[in-house]
Amino acid sequence: MTIEISAGGAAYIGLDLGTSGLRALLMSQDGAVIGSADASFSVSHVQPGWSEQDPASWIAACEKVMDALRQDHPDAFKTVAAIAVAGHMHGAVLMDAEGAVLRPCILWNDTRSHEEAAWLDAQENVRALSGNIVFPGFTAPKLLWVAQAEPNIFARTAAVLLPKDYLNYWLTGVLFAEMSDASGTSWLDFGNRCWSDELLTVSKMQKEQMPPLVEGSDAAAQLSQSLQERWGFVRPVTIAGGAADNAAAACGIGALGEGDGFISLGTSGVILAARGAYAPQPETAVHTFCHAVPGRWYQMGVVLAATDSLNWLARQLGKNPAELAALMGDLNGPGSVQFLPYLSGERTPHNDSRIRGAFLNLDISGTPEDLVRAVMEGVCFALRDSFEVLKAAGAQLERLTITGGGSQSDFWTTLCATVLNVPVDLPEGSEFGAALGAARLALCAHSGAPAEEIMTPPKIAKTVMPRSNLIQACENAYQNWRKTYLALKDLHHD
Ligand code: XUL
Repeated sequence: MTIEISAGGAAYIGLDLGTSGLRALLMSQDGAVIGSADASFSVSHVQPGWSEQDPASWIAACEKVMDALRQDHPDAFKTVAAIAVAGHMHGAVLMDAEGAVLRPCILWNDTRSHEEAAWLDAQENVRALSGNIVFPGFTAPKLLWVAQAEPNIFARTAAVLLPKDYLNYWLTGVLFAEMSDASGTSWLDFGNRCWSDELLTVSKMQKEQMPPLVEGSDAAAQLSQSLQERWGFVRPVTIAGGAADNAAAACGIGALGEGDGFISLGTSGVILAARGAYAPQPETAVHTFCHAVPGRWYQMGVVLAATDSLNWLARQLGKNPAELAALMGDLNGPGSVQFLPYLSGERTPHNDSRIRGAFLNLDISGTPEDLVRAVMEGVCFALRDSFEVLKAAGAQLERLTITGGGSQSDFWTTLCATVLNVPVDLPEGSEFGAALGAARLALCAHSGAPAEEIMTPPKIAKTVMPRSNLIQACENAYQNWRKTYLALKDLHHD
């Protein structure tokens, strides 16, 4: 049977490989969301500071979400013309010459290689070429750790892939990497958007181990014949370069140029500012990365444990995070308990992988609500730290869009707006994150449409204004909170 496909009949899939699960989003040619599917997987923390994931769990999740989309939306699904994957950054999937994975993926929030990171960071030219501090979560120090701790595995490593690039390899059988994600390796020469021989050599790597680079909106490869048949697509499916999760989220909310930015209140917390030119400022611990579309960059500050801090508290209290968030009523000023959200160490602005979380000022009359409020405030204050650094780097952010699971809490969103003292826009619907950004990259890769035409801002459901009567109290609480890191930083437990 032949199936006629009209010119308007193409659909696109964006896959978002998150830390706790994979989301697939089916989008029509005119950019409307047709449907989505999710599958979850776990992270293992076998030692303090370690964080690993089995890449096989990503494949199992991908099979599950694709089957679910196919079942729920059979007509649109078969017209899929392109797929793009967004993924959590910095992870290292080590593959041997036969394409077998050699060990679990070491994730972005794993801090075991902090000594290697500090060593690399101190080498001449490394910051200048890579545009960033070498943070312990980045990929290069992970490989130095493997070389030292697991020399047999290091010797068999024929290719190093970032998490979403491994999923792309499974989809296509082709090895490729992409600029926005490669930005978090400490091996990319940013100004020139290519692998740097000098950066690779200093971390004992060779260019042959690195896949060829494409831009996120490029058509990078075709879906493999076997998956093409298995999923019943009626035409060859293009796989786009894809993107790092934050770059994809920027595509999803249309943050491409100066003045555009967002807060992501997800597992990690991010404040991102799109930048039109390459102007790194590594000494401030701001991240400067290539955007997922050519000729653009972005800067961001990262809080390693944002909703992850609330998830952690929920586990300790035997509740789920939504139950804890529901304990908070209307915002009525900062509480007296303080929380440092450094459960997995700290990135921006202190770059301290050894510091750990803390509650301060606990009182005998304290309640679970006090702890929840302190966690939410601690995360907002840490985001404010990043916001200050971005402003100092020249980003002009007069309003911010907010995304991520934490934005479902009115309390948390209002607190963010008040602590940052900017209006915060909540997009309409729930589909505007990295999965939508990835689907938009797929559309660009297939149609050749310019990114500026496709990556438009979402409709705003509501704008949350800073609470004017609480701005000063929050400012004072933030200034007090800032002192706690300085007081505690040398007291960590070795
Ligand atoms: C960015 C970072 C995180 C991860 C996980 O540098 O480490 O945002 O990408 O989401």
